[in-house]
Amino acid sequence: MNTVSGDRFWFGGDYNPEQWPRDVWDEDVRLMGRAGVTVATVGVFSWSRLQPAPGAWDFTWLDDVLGRLAEAGIGIDLATATASPPPWLVAAHPGMAPVTADGVVLANTSRQHYSPHSPVYREHALALVRALAERYGRHPGLVAWHVNNEYACHVPRCYGPDADVAFRAWLRARYSTIGELNAAWGTDFWSQRYSGFEEITSPRTSPTAGNPTQLIDFDRFTSDAFLDLFRAEAEIVREASPGIPVTTNFMGAFRPLDYWKWAREVDFVSDDSYPDPVDPQAPVAAALTRDLMRSLGRGKPWVLMEQATSAVNWRPANAPKAPGQNRAYSLQAVARGADGIMYFQWRQSAAGAEKFHSAMLPHAGPDSRVFREVCALGAELAELSRLRGAAVPARVAIVFDWDSWWALEQESTPTRLDYPALVQEWYRAFWARDAVVDFVPADGPFDAYDLVVVPALHVADDAALTALAAVPERGGRLVVGFMTGILDRNLRVRAEGCLGSLAGVLGVRIEEFAPAAPAPGAAAPVLRLTGTLGELSASTWAEFTHAVDTEVCASFEDGVVRSWPAVTRRRTGAGEAWYVATRLDPPSTDRLVGELLDGAGIELPTTGPSEHVEVVRRGDAVFVVNHSPQEQTVAVRGHGPRTLGPHGAEVLFG
Ligand code: GAL
Repeated sequence: MNTVSGDRFWFGGDYNPEQWPRDVWDEDVRLMGRAGVTVATVGVFSWSRLQPAPGAWDFTWLDDVLGRLAEAGIGIDLATATASPPPWLVAAHPGMAPVTADGVVLANTSRQHYSPHSPVYREHALALVRALAERYGRHPGLVAWHVNNEYACHVPRCYGPDADVAFRAWLRARYSTIGELNAAWGTDFWSQRYSGFEEITSPRTSPTAGNPTQLIDFDRFTSDAFLDLFRAEAEIVREASPGIPVTTNFMGAFRPLDYWKWAREVDFVSDDSYPDPVDPQAPVAAALTRDLMRSLGRGKPWVLMEQATSAVNWRPANAPKAPGQNRAYSLQAVARGADGIMYFQWRQSAAGAEKFHSAMLPHAGPDSRVFREVCALGAELAELSRLRGAAVPARVAIVFDWDSWWALEQESTPTRLDYPALVQEWYRAFWARDAVVDFVPADGPFDAYDLVVVPALHVADDAALTALAAVPERGGRLVVGFMTGILDRNLRVRAEGCLGSLAGVLGVRIEEFAPAAPAPGAAAPVLRLTGTLGELSASTWAEFTHAVDTEVCASFEDGVVRSWPAVTRRRTGAGEAWYVATRLDPPSTDRLVGELLDGAGIELPTTGPSEHVEVVRRGDAVFVVNHSPQEQTVAVRGHGPRTLGPHGAEVLFG
């Protein structure tokens, strides 16, 4: 599938007509037409309406809604409605509620109050999906199935009795004998040796640090359990609707779910994104997630399934989007591969926990700046529709790995690291220079890239290290950051030393870690570096690393690692293998990234870095987006200087 579906960009949002009387539905469809809405996501939280009591179904209202939408030419992204079970179900089966690591049973007074491991939940959810699939599987307006909603959003893990049973089954499949599990988990440490699978529980709150392998296996198991629920629903709707694509909405770089695995199961990737309108770093984080979504789908178009037209209502203070900012973020997503721009939600709710969350049609009604901006964007996307399916070329790859994220967050590490923050530090330097980045899993493929950056790939198996080693060997540039290649997939320290087979390619030998911990009450120490790259500074991390067969580009100036190598480069014919043994601060990362891009001969669409404006090529269009509240001028290659007003954006062709 090249484009997501149909011949227009998806433009629309979650539509929750069950919150409104029927006469409002007439106005909804009329105003959707005015706004240029092409797709509505229906039924996300409708379970208690669709099945008001055990065995009782009510589809009449949904028949009516879907009929109206189809008649108006609006595509239907039909939700399976399984994200919020009805009160009668929870009352009859209290054991299906999720349980936290501290044993707290979560109440059904909100949403997502189900354990992903509950057989009762699964049985009832699949019965609902079957009923929906049977009734609407061939509906003329159906353009996609929207399975569940934001899996694991509020319940990232469940530790109840059903979790224990399911965890044991998952472990039995992974380790055929208890002996194998004991070896993998290193249970001879602290007398944790198990004599049978039935002794194992989920890793609930424990006296001190838990078994690291058990913890990461529980993270993997949880991601797999949610995925299994997705698969079960997807199988039903796929059978009922051949050719209709199936998705579930992701949440950017989201810790609980290993989206590399998930992305293989959806027909197209979709994402929910709520950047804080007043956070100056938010455009970078948003760009990162857009690139991640495109990369998860291996370059195929994706859909921005949810964003806000203006304010959300779950931050301590909910700033509105400034005039133009909704358009700027939307065009950023299109530039980075989205074929759909959707919102939560169409009409702002009058009641419930999200009544202050903005919508396409706000409380103020159609005579509002928000609705006018929505209509203008709908018209603009219709004009741009020939860009659907167009590729976003990237020559830089950054490795993103959920196992490393999970492992780095555990208690027993040399230093705690915020993995996504570290990835974003590297990403930001490329973003500022308008070098588009693809994200790639640890084992590649890397063939398409001239430059591959590996931030803190803490957990790495031989396959990943071999794939990375091939990058400089074939003439590419490889940049490996600290804390890489320390553990194998069982979180055992790699027997042959840090970096495994990569050590030789990088020409280094790591002897000892030396994290730069602040003295009690003192600020985090700054590490100064000097060398052929000039004066650099860093923080957080240092190490005693030998430059065995490589050039030292920067050495530590301070502390216990004074004069030890901090940044090295080993030339391998046309290729280069860099090792960065510290956490460079942003200006120093910029300096290194500038050097790497120049060295790799990567042509950029602008002539200098910018903190505010991004320039991205997609197909034959160049998107220029100013994320700042001030006017900005940027020199776009082939188009000269462009001046954009606050949150201004333009699409240039040619
Ligand atoms: C998402 C969710 C929507 C809505 C939105 C705004 O997490 O899928 O249903 O809650 O956020 O808060």
